[in-house]
Amino acid sequence: MRRAKLSVIGAGNVGATCAHWAAAKELGDIVLLDIPDKVGVAQGKALDLWCCGPMERFDANILGTSDYKDIEGSDVIIVTAGLPRKPGMSRDDLINTNVKIVKSVSEQIKKYAPNAVVILVSNPLDAMVYTAWKVTGFPTNQIVGQAGCLDVARYCTFLAEKIGCSIEDISALLMGGHGDDMVPLPRYTSVHGIPVTELLDDATITACVDRAKVGGGEVVKLMGTSAYYAPASGSVQMAEAIIKDKKRILPCAAYCGKEYGVGGYFVGVPCVLGSGGVEKIIECKLNTDEKKLLEESVSHVKDLVGVVQNLFPELK
Ligand code: NAI
Ligand code: 2OP
Repeated sequence: MRRAKLSVIGAGNVGATCAHWAAAKELGDIVLLDIPDKVGVAQGKALDLWCCGPMERFDANILGTSDYKDIEGSDVIIVTAGLPRKPGMSRDDLINTNVKIVKSVSEQIKKYAPNAVVILVSNPLDAMVYTAWKVTGFPTNQIVGQAGCLDVARYCTFLAEKIGCSIEDISALLMGGHGDDMVPLPRYTSVHGIPVTELLDDATITACVDRAKVGGGEVVKLMGTSAYYAPASGSVQMAEAIIKDKKRILPCAAYCGKEYGVGGYFVGVPCVLGSGGVEKIIECKLNTDEKKLLEESVSHVKDLVGVVQNLFPELK
């Protein structure tokens, strides 16, 4: 049986950690690609990780490279290329530089791996997914962004601490844009089937949502650069669902046409992820308050896409 192939573009903190989680889960052969100036870093990290196989018991070829020909035949590509935030910066401050980077990466993906499902991670996420979609021209099911898995994981972590229960028993959903823009949905949060609202008061749930919203910023303040363990874990959770055709329902930045009345933007919504990429978007019956919050979040995504279109008219 043919092994799956996963390529990770950008061998920095998030990219290398994606390769690490993916190898540990034995998802398939892995290509770790960076720019020619950093090819030694990509090759060194790939070699180092490859040699973990005998101890961690995974069979996988792990290749570091700067040659896009090596991504040929990829089933999934995770794009982490781009600048991370420094203290005091918002994700949106990265837009100019990272659109240029994601644009050049997407041109290569289009050329060498036209059948891959592409998971965008670079920030500002909601604008990068749009950029990759415009440049590749791929069908919308083949382009998806990672934000929701991370945001929900942060939210679940803080809830489990407050409840004093295992994180394994928490099932939660958030929608909308990444981070500060997320739409909290306590109505769709349960603890082994028990509504979270029966276990925590509103103020405590709101505090967990608020900490998750700024969870990325909290890490940036502490370390001077952005998070990578949890972002990579979220990306690999998505890659695993696609590679193993698991049909998992995960919150992802997916193209919404009529869904939720979005009208043609990539927004964080619950999706079925399988070998076809985004196979379905689940439409929850939101109440009036939730709809309003989602509309506000979508309007920020539209503003961001507007900034991309103004800076790069060719991406209209
Ligand atoms: P990093 O600086 O450690 O790594 C970025 C890598 O991208 C560098 O090795 C750089 O050489 C490479 N790169 C730059 N231009 C490239 C190109 N044209 N082709 C290939 N590689 C290229 O940064 P880190 O921490 O890994 O973050 C990467 C991106 O992911 C940032 O934009 C960050 O904001 C974003 N991010 C997104 C998250 C999310 O949940 N969506 C969470 C965490 C980070
Ligand atoms: C995060 O939320 C920076 O988007 C990144 O950690």
